[in-house]
Amino acid sequence: MSDGDECIDWNTFWAEAGDERRAMAATGQYGQAEPLAQFIEQRGISDSVASIGCGPAHVLFELAGRYPEVEFVGYDTAESVIIENRERAERTGRNNLTFGVETLPEIEAERQFELVFSYGTLQYVRAIEQAVGSLYELVVDGGYLVFDYPSRTMPATIERAAEDSDEHGEWLRERFDLVLARENLLSYERIHDLLGRWPRKFNAEGDGPTGSRASPRVFVPK
Ligand SMILES: C[S@@+](CC[C@H](N)C(=O)[O-])C[C@H]1O[C@@H](n2cnc3c(N)ncnc32)[C@H](O)[C@@H]1O
Repeated sequence: MSDGDECIDWNTFWAEAGDERRAMAATGQYGQAEPLAQFIEQRGISDSVASIGCGPAHVLFELAGRYPEVEFVGYDTAESVIIENRERAERTGRNNLTFGVETLPEIEAERQFELVFSYGTLQYVRAIEQAVGSLYELVVDGGYLVFDYPSRTMPATIERAAEDSDEHGEWLRERFDLVLARENLLSYERIHDLLGRWPRKFNAEGDGPTGSRASPRVFVPK
């Protein structure tokens, strides 16, 4: 479970949700592999990449196929999605892609990666500042952390989206309860205070509820 008392039981969600809700929760599948691929090439990342809160790992599967010489690891709090991902990796012969269970705000994996990314996940973590610190610790010196986070404009964006949706309004409010309660909002300044480096805008395609002003996507070199 994530963070102790969250509204969503992600383990049950990934085991039982239908296609529509799974697609809505896996926002990282929308056009996010290409910007990361460009980043990997521009920054010369050749050794290891991790995704935290990977969900069904669409981006990881795409990148692992594209860069067979790089090691990719996906972590998520939900064991059900980790098992599903492991089976898919075996079925599709992705020998450079493995998975493990990890629950922010802590990370127990005792290793580091050249590139760590976390998309659409910190929105669900109450102790977000500790979580950002843990993500940064997972990065080797000289590497990069890429993530999106709930900004001060996210509560209003979620409220609007919930009002506009007949079908999913209640679910959106439940899913983003911490954001709506303004319990885990971050800013560039706060990230700078936490990590001692200024975050920089990460160019992402396909801006949706994440990767937008409400949930900016940034990178922080280490
Ligand atoms: C909205 S989904 C995003 C999945 C994927 N990153 C994407 O962009 O498609 C959020 C994911 O974060 C995971 N998650 C939620 N709380 C977490 C926590 N405290 N630690 C690790 N993963 C968590 C959920 O199980 C879920 O897979």
